[in-house]
Amino acid sequence: MRNEKRITILGIESSCDDTSAAVIRDRLVLSNVIANQSVHERYGGVVPELASRAHQQNIVPVVHDALKQAGVSKDELSAIAFTRGPGLLGSLLVGTSFAKGLSSALNIPLIDVNHLQAHVMAHFIKENEDDDSHPDFPFLCLLVSGGNSQIILVKSYNDMEIIGQTIDDAAGEAFDKCAKVIGLGYPGGPEVDRLAKRGNPKKFVFSKPQVAGYDYSFSGLKTSFLYFLRDNLKVDPAFIEKNREDLCASLQKTIIDILMDKLHRASKDLGIKEIAVAGGVSANTGLRDAIEKYARRYRKKVHIPKFSYTTDNAAMVAIAGYFKYLDNDFCGPDVAPYARVAI
Ligand code: KG4
Repeated sequence: MRNEKRITILGIESSCDDTSAAVIRDRLVLSNVIANQSVHERYGGVVPELASRAHQQNIVPVVHDALKQAGVSKDELSAIAFTRGPGLLGSLLVGTSFAKGLSSALNIPLIDVNHLQAHVMAHFIKENEDDDSHPDFPFLCLLVSGGNSQIILVKSYNDMEIIGQTIDDAAGEAFDKCAKVIGLGYPGGPEVDRLAKRGNPKKFVFSKPQVAGYDYSFSGLKTSFLYFLRDNLKVDPAFIEKNREDLCASLQKTIIDILMDKLHRASKDLGIKEIAVAGGVSANTGLRDAIEKYARRYRKKVHIPKFSYTTDNAAMVAIAGYFKYLDNDFCGPDVAPYARVAI
């Protein structure tokens, strides 16, 4: 029997290299299953064709597990929400097609979700009935991941505006690419974070970009890091080995300073007191500390998501779908994914 009072959403995420399915009931997360794809590790980055194939293999067992862990039968679902984009087209097609098929078979609404909005909406997930801390509108969200670095003005659940974004690489890309040149595995962000804890953040200084407004740029930092290593390796071939922890700490500090500078400016100019952070890079412990320190200093209220909702996951897709469900904002069976899209 479908329970009409309680809204139960199955979320599906397949935009990059994580296949994920989650069940949310009235904002409470009942399950959030994520299958990571280790196949990309040996290539130092995501290989789109391999990602699509792995999604094909994972999607049925992942959805099955999500329903099982939630203790929810398919008949109890109110709607299916899926990531429509942005992301890798071949990967998105797997989740989109699966969601279409299941919604049609169950005769329930289909909801397309913008992946970037979903990252922001992760702040509204409840892990237990008493947990109701979430940002109040309007708030600024710093969305930092492997593909995006944006400052988003969030006016309501479904009304968001990008006020600043990277003009080249994303912050996560800067972490990953710099990590690669000092011999760390993929993705490099978590490794840099771990090693940075034992290093001196002031040991090395890397160049910071001069970009107008609230926009970001990280490609210059990557080049500056590369040239710095090249010059030092000429003098001492063991330079990286001897300085890995200090290199990580100094790189991480530079990225955090760049991110915080624009966020501070935006918050000051717009007079917004509530700040949230989202996306894979928000798992970074240095960034979390910097945001908390900033909040204490400038009397801001900050919202940092739990680690499990920072990287790609379907719970955030389900919660974004939940708010669209409340607005009766559904899509038709002719919906197609998109690789690129604004918010
Ligand atoms: O949001 P996300 O899972 O998906 C993509 O955008 O693909 O973000 C992944 C990014 C990667 O660049 C990864 O290195 C970075 O988030 N990341 C981190 C940390 N954990 C993940 N970067 C720095 N510190 C971390 N602890």
